[in-house]
Amino acid sequence: MLNRRVLVIGATGSLGASMFPVHSAPSDSTYTSFHKNLPNQSWLRLYAGIQQEDTDTHSCHVDGNWPRDLVGALYRNGPGRMELGGRRYQHWFDGDGLVQKWSISHTGEVTHRSRLVHTHKFLHDEARNELSLVGFGTVSEDPLSASGPDAFNVGNISVLPRDNELLALWEGGSAWRMNADTLTTNGKLELSTESAGLPFSAHPRVEPNGTLWNFGYVSHMAALVIWRLDPGAREPKIWIIPRSPMTIPHDFVVTSKHLLLPLPPLHYEPDRAVEHSFIDAHEWHPDRSLDILVMSKDDPNSNFVIELPAAWFFHYSNAWEDEDGVIRFEGFSYDDPSLMYDAFRNVMRGKMPDSISDPQLVQFRVDTKKRNASVEALLDDQIACEFPCIDRRRSTERHEWLTMLAHDARPSSSKELGLFNSVARVHTVSSDSVLYTYPHHEIPEEHLFIPNRHGSQETDGWILGTSLDYVDEKTHLNLFEARETALELVARATLPRLMPLGLHGQFVGTA
Ligand SMILES: [Fe+2]
Repeated sequence: MLNRRVLVIGATGSLGASMFPVHSAPSDSTYTSFHKNLPNQSWLRLYAGIQQEDTDTHSCHVDGNWPRDLVGALYRNGPGRMELGGRRYQHWFDGDGLVQKWSISHTGEVTHRSRLVHTHKFLHDEARNELSLVGFGTVSEDPLSASGPDAFNVGNISVLPRDNELLALWEGGSAWRMNADTLTTNGKLELSTESAGLPFSAHPRVEPNGTLWNFGYVSHMAALVIWRLDPGAREPKIWIIPRSPMTIPHDFVVTSKHLLLPLPPLHYEPDRAVEHSFIDAHEWHPDRSLDILVMSKDDPNSNFVIELPAAWFFHYSNAWEDEDGVIRFEGFSYDDPSLMYDAFRNVMRGKMPDSISDPQLVQFRVDTKKRNASVEALLDDQIACEFPCIDRRRSTERHEWLTMLAHDARPSSSKELGLFNSVARVHTVSSDSVLYTYPHHEIPEEHLFIPNRHGSQETDGWILGTSLDYVDEKTHLNLFEARETALELVARATLPRLMPLGLHGQFVGTA
């Protein structure tokens, strides 16, 4: 018997009820299957998750020399705890958030610390010593005393520094406040009565003047939420934009005048929510359009849609708008969202992905005056890439260089796993690129561009990112010089422990 439960966004949330199904697997076959396969396939260690929270700070072995003016902390977030009490999440996106802090001192010493995000769900499960099997792609029959999406918000996608704290970001609910030093969780972020409980997505955009923009989506209400938080302001400005059918937008872009939210045709079907997980309550429509919702920054309710052929996207680079109202930005185009339905479920059961869809780097050209748009591939279609990063000094302004993870197209173990083996820098005008390929069995995670203090060009800085050696069970923090002609590894810190494969991060420099 499948139970249908109606969950309500937090008491003060203005959008009312949110409906998520809570069903159950009678015995946890996901847990059993994963642990049967784990001893024979070392790559599964990337998805094993931590068994116990580690509250210690660890010194790392350092090779090479960290530049004296690169001082600060790289914070990263991702699904970090996958199982508890003999139960295991059924989808990689459901793992409890694990925030890691790599601290680089002025003497070039590197330390590592990590803490789980103590969300309401985490505390609930800890008290029971058993996972509540409910989430983005996990289905359970267990009743969960839930009052809204924040009841299963795991705060596991990204981080945002704010007011000397660190926010752990999810997609369907609130951000979580953490102590930036100790990584202890200080509760949900509630900026105002009006905005409490509204979804705050994991990819906010911050303009050079400090103005923060974000969006959220409330599927059952067929509504988008737009957030604007001005520098120094305590309360955000909120707009509610009707949108039907709703989809799962993960990222958006901001220019000097507009907000652009691409909406792929992965449509929410309310009737399917009764018997399926949240992701399975959606249906892909390859015959429908990828809608680019173009909103005015002055009033996001003033908007229009430009249609493009169906494609799935997770991430975009940075958008800039010329004097003719033409907007350009890059994204990573997938034929469909099967990666979410197939690979990220299979790995939780200890199985290889059935099929791999390679994301291709494309550039959008959106003409806001003529109201048309086009998409053009920037690289050879044999090169898969994802996780874009720009020089943040260029946010909402013209950029030319992109840093990203890539696959160099040679057959390898990481290719079979649907993972990347390289970090790349690509010039978006010439399509010139430089690439560093990691050793076998070493999987890079998102890499960031960190500007230095000696120049304002997009090549005046470093590339900083982590990599996971799942055979030797080590985690590395890697530093490259961001030259136009090559990526040179100049320093590396090693933690003698394999951390779980994660998602996004940010670097906070220390003066
Ligand atoms: Fe993301």
